[in-house]
Amino acid sequence: MKRTTAAITAVGGYVPEFVLDNKKLEQMVDTNDEWITSRTGIKERRILKGKDLGSSDLAVPAIKELLDKRGISASEIDLIICATTTPDLVFPATANIIARKIGAQNSFGFDLQAACSGFLFALTTGSKFIESGTHKKVLVVGVDKMSAIIDYEDRATCVIFGDGGGAVLLEPNTEGYGIIDARLYSDGNGEKHLHQKAGGSRRPPSLETVKNKEHYVYQEGAAVFKHAVVSMADVSEEIMTRNNLSAEDVAWLVPHQANKRIIDATARRMGLDASKVMLNIEKFGNTTSGTIPLCLWEWESKLSKGENLVLSAFGGGFTWGAVYVKWAY
Ligand code: UT7
Repeated sequence: MKRTTAAITAVGGYVPEFVLDNKKLEQMVDTNDEWITSRTGIKERRILKGKDLGSSDLAVPAIKELLDKRGISASEIDLIICATTTPDLVFPATANIIARKIGAQNSFGFDLQAACSGFLFALTTGSKFIESGTHKKVLVVGVDKMSAIIDYEDRATCVIFGDGGGAVLLEPNTEGYGIIDARLYSDGNGEKHLHQKAGGSRRPPSLETVKNKEHYVYQEGAAVFKHAVVSMADVSEEIMTRNNLSAEDVAWLVPHQANKRIIDATARRMGLDASKVMLNIEKFGNTTSGTIPLCLWEWESKLSKGENLVLSAFGGGFTWGAVYVKWAY
């Protein structure tokens, strides 16, 4: 019998309307367009405005688009896995909130936290439910409202992050398309370089934590950069070697969009020309769990059945990984 794989059969994406460009940031903190562009590749990012709107409000339009394209109703979804670092609430899971909002009454769901690698961890997890035969339609969501945890007085972080996300549908395939292989890694020693200090059980919210601005992203950029640039290139090369993929065999690199310099270094190591690299960091910045599905969403019409994609990410934790996907449509 042929192996069952989890094929991506539809993609949806969403970014909010409000554009925060480098010029606006120049009015807010001591920075400039030249610094941001040359160090990161970012020109603009999107921000979700509006009272009481959370990550689920970014996910819902993306999922509705996906369901529309695939021509199915939300009640056909078996499982929703939502990768996010900015859940609507500490609990219940944003996946549950999404299920209620889209009417996925026959699904179960849970959130998955792996920072910027979240979408790849969720995609790999979702693929196992398909491969085992227990589930037929799995929604994998990657979404973040990073503006909820960014200090817009801290120039080291506020220039980088944005809001947005997307979703893919996984369905069984017996013709060799879909998620073929994945390599995922975590290293808890990375915590000190990239974390949010308060708001969890170790340091619950208090007047003191708010006063000390401990509910924002804390990042030692240079230290994270050093690890990211090596690990993302290493794991991308590893997945190629494991699957006997040459540079010619790879049609697309789908990289997490944290810094153009990290993406360039990864592509160089893989031997890929810039024309094979999905890059939209200049428009959306780093949307954490949202970057990879947003790339797939933007490039969907350019993809062809049978093309080999390498999805690659690095993030807080540290977490990192690469997934080899054979495009199914
Ligand atoms: O997605 C999750 C994982 N995260 C990442 O992968 C991020 C990895 N890190 C990075 O992308 C880069 O480290 C940053 C973009 C965050 C920073 O770039 P960098 O080249 O590593 O800069 P740096 O932090 O070493 O700072 C260099 C200088 C410093 O000034 P001095 O000490 O040289 O005078 C900073 O104070 O740039 C200064 N600086 C800025 N200047 C203008 C830092 N932020 C800014 C800013 N505008 N926004």
